[in-house]
Amino acid sequence: MKMMETSLNVTVAVVVALLMLTCHGQEQRLLVPMTLVRNASALHAFCLDGSLPAYHIHRGFGAGKNNWLLQFEGGGWCNSLQSCLERAKTRRGSTSLMSKYEVFSGILSNNASLNPGMYK
Ligand SMILES: *[C@@H]1O[C@H](CO)[C@@H](O)[C@H](O)[C@H]1NC(C)=O
Ligand SMILES: *[C@@H]1O[C@H](CO)[C@@H](O)[C@H](O)[C@H]1NC(C)=O
Repeated sequence: MKMMETSLNVTVAVVVALLMLTCHGQEQRLLVPMTLVRNASALHAFCLDGSLPAYHIHRGFGAGKNNWLLQFEGGGWCNSLQSCLERAKTRRGSTSLMSKYEVFSGILSNNASLNPGMYK
């Protein structure tokens, strides 16, 4: 089962890489994989559906090596049992449904000509 999951993940990664190459010509998009916080359960920290929390990170480089740009995705909240149960079935309430890869563009882009102020 674990091996099947791993080979499925590899297949997904290969498909994503192929799509990037075929759909976007020479321009390189910054596609950042999701990182699960595997030990969050030690702090009893979970998403609404019980899945582990996660983030996408791309490390700075050069003069920006020690700088951070944090982006907290918007999307509101839930404030009742019903609305939280509904949210648990969406990418905003579950890392099982969250994007396994995120395109970092705009202010998150690492392309100097597209993002001169913040690219590193
Ligand atoms: C950066 O963006 C420019 C303008 O879209 C593009 O021509 C260039 O190929 C990009 N560079 C990389 C490394 O993707
Ligand atoms: C979880 O793992 C990270 C990275 O290994 C570590 O820095 C952190 O202290 C750990 N946190 C807990 C609560 O175990």
